[in-house]
This record gives sequence, C-alpha cells and structure tokens, in this order.
Amino acid sequence: MTSLGFGIVGTGFIAGVIAEALSQAQGAHLAAVSSRDGARARAFADHHGGNAAAVEGHQALLARDDVAAVYVAVPTVAKEEIALAAIAAGRHVLVDKPFLNEASARRMIDAAHAAGVLFMDATHFTHHPRTHALRAALATTIATPRSLHTAFYFPFSDKTNIRLNPDQEPTGAVGDMAWYSLRAAVEYLAPQGAPQTVQALAERDPDTGGVVRATGLIGFADGTSTTFDVGYTADTLAMDLHLIGTTGIVIMDDFVLDWANSFPFKNTGLKAGYVHRHGMASHADARFIEVASDTPQQVLMVDRFADLARTGSADDRARAAAPTLATQALLDAVWAAIP
Ligand SMILES: NC(=O)c1ccc[n+]([C@@H]2O[C@H](COP(=O)([O-])OP(=O)(O)OC[C@H]3O[C@@H](n4cnc5c(N)ncnc54)[C@H](OP(=O)(O)O)[C@@H]3O)[C@@H](O)[C@H]2O)c1
Repeated sequence: MTSLGFGIVGTGFIAGVIAEALSQAQGAHLAAVSSRDGARARAFADHHGGNAAAVEGHQALLARDDVAAVYVAVPTVAKEEIALAAIAAGRHVLVDKPFLNEASARRMIDAAHAAGVLFMDATHFTHHPRTHALRAALATTIATPRSLHTAFYFPFSDKTNIRLNPDQEPTGAVGDMAWYSLRAAVEYLAPQGAPQTVQALAERDPDTGGVVRATGLIGFADGTSTTFDVGYTADTLAMDLHLIGTTGIVIMDDFVLDWANSFPFKNTGLKAGYVHRHGMASHADARFIEVASDTPQQVLMVDRFADLARTGSADDRARAAAPTLATQALLDAVWAAIP
C-alpha cells in the first residue's frame, strides 16, 4: 500500500492536530505544509513533520508531486477558494467544517466528483467505531429514534480568535459547535425530508459581534425533532447527547471527543461507549455499552480518507459527501432562523 502524501494548508490549531494524526496513520503521511508566511510553514514542518516540506502559499503546495491530498485548515471564508484550486490541480481534499453555506459545500463536492477526486469534511466523531456501533444497535436499544438533544460547550473567550470574528467565521459558535449537534442529528436521528419548523436564537459578543452561544429547535416532516444548545460561555466543557427513542434513551457525555482517546483527552481509566436507559430504572440499572477504540478518531479519519482516496468508487465518494450536505443544509436553516 502506498502512503498518501498530505499537504496541509494553514498552520493553526487544528492543522497541528491533524499533523499529529498523520504521524500515527497507517496509510497517510504529512508531505508538506503551506502558510501565508514561509517562516511559519517552516516552523510548523519542523515541529510536526520532521522531513515535511514547507512552502509559502497554497499554490506552491499544489505544485508539488508528493502532495496527493490537501487538508484545508483555514478560516471558513477562505476554504472554498483553496479547496477548488486543489481539486482543479487533481488533489483529493479534506476540508474542515463548517462551510459558508450549502451552495459553497455543493460547489466543492460537485467539482471534486467531476474531477474524480475525494471530498470529505473533517468531522472526527463520525469515524469513531462508537458512531457505527450505535447506529447498528438502535433497533435493539431504543427502537425508533424520535428526538435528539445535544449540548456542546467549551470555555473560550479569546476575542482575537477567528471564532469570534464574523469576517473569518461568519456563523461563529453556530458553525463551529452546532455543526456537531446537527451532524449527530444526521447520523443518529436520520430525519427524512426538509425541516418543517426551525427556531433559533444567538448571543453575540458585544465587542466583536461574533456568535458565542446559540440554542435551536428543528422539527421534521416525519415527526422527529432535535434541539441543541452550544457555545463558549459556560466556562466548562460539555458534550452531552440524549437520543430518545420508543424503547429507551441513549446517553453520552462525550459525543464529540471521547474522554478515553481523542486529541484533547487520554484517560486510560475511562471507556468510550454509551448508556442505554429503559423502563422505570434508576442510574443503577442503566446499561453502559462499551465501544473502545485503540486508535483515536482523528487518526481513523485520515486513514479512512486515504483508503477512499486510493480505492473508493464514485458511489463511495458520493456516500462520503452526503452527510456534509445534509449537515450544512440544517446549519443554513438554523442560521436563517436566527433574528
Ligand atoms: N474538525 C475539528 O475538530 C475542528 C476543530 C477545530 C477547528 N475546526 C475548524 O477549522 C477551522 C480552523 O480553525 P483553527 O482553530 O485551526 O483556526 P486557527 O488556529 O486560526 O488557524 C487557521 C489558520 O489558517 C490560516 N489562515 C488564517 N486566515 C487565513 C486566510 N484568510 N486565508 C488563508 N489562510 C488563513 C493561518 O495559517 P497561516 O497564517 O500559516 O497561513 C491560521 O493559522 C475553523 O473553521 C474551525 O471551525 C475544526
């Protein structure tokens, strides 16, 4: 198996996480990194890549023969232009979430499919075996999922960060955090049809105007619904999920980043999995179903990407992109509902 050479565009926080993931991957490696500043690219490559190349500007990255795939790790306003340039140069693209809107995501996906290359968004949790195991177990745990509630918060108040700058991240905490809530709805609730009811509200930072907290409700034509509460303002981390079915409830308190083995957490004493509650039962009777993964989900993501890039069919590529479009469509509906 040939290892897939990745070029990373951007030298910020999540670029570093994926550079580390590439160093642990079986089928992919960091070949090069680009920055708008050559010295920053060099420092990043020295820190993460060992012998990875460092170049100034993404066009220089795309000129390299050792770059077969590009990971786009820049603010949302800059993602589409870079991804389209990479696709036009025949490179597979892993583009971090969120997107400007569904039309922007669709342009990138359509261009990738027309060029016969892979487009994937960089949502980590969907690659944890727990996500697949839970979906497969729904029929025998909660029967029919009817509603999903999620809360995702992390403590964050740096007003100079892109998250609080609407010129860089136009939807702020909605795109950054509710992306995961809405992706969980796509993965676990799998609603049929367009939203019928959408309500949402947002709190903005008084200095930057960036969205720092948001709450929303979506009702679907099939009678299912989802609510979410996300933001940076609670001074704690929360990753709570309640998936409510017709024969019980599934609960996780780490649905985005498992406590056991994800990029911010390594807790050998904690297990990845989910709780199933059923009937008139107390906590003592709740059943914990472990779904362990020796490999962190972000490493599984880059290896899955490399597999699909190497051997995926056009149908596989379409299947990989479908949840991106579904999630971004929900995000657009939520954003449009915010006063
Ligand atoms: N999937 C996940 O788990 C995950 C986690 C965190 C963030 N994200 C998403 O990833 C994106 C980046 O987040 P981050 O926290 O890594 O941000 P960050 O730390 O600010 O890094 C972004 C990098 O992009 C480059 N950049 C900045 N402005 C640019 C522009 N206008 N054009 C081109 N490049 C530019 C910069 O690198 P140079 O200065 O070297 O060019 C910068 O270091 C966000 O949309 C965020 O929502 C995803």
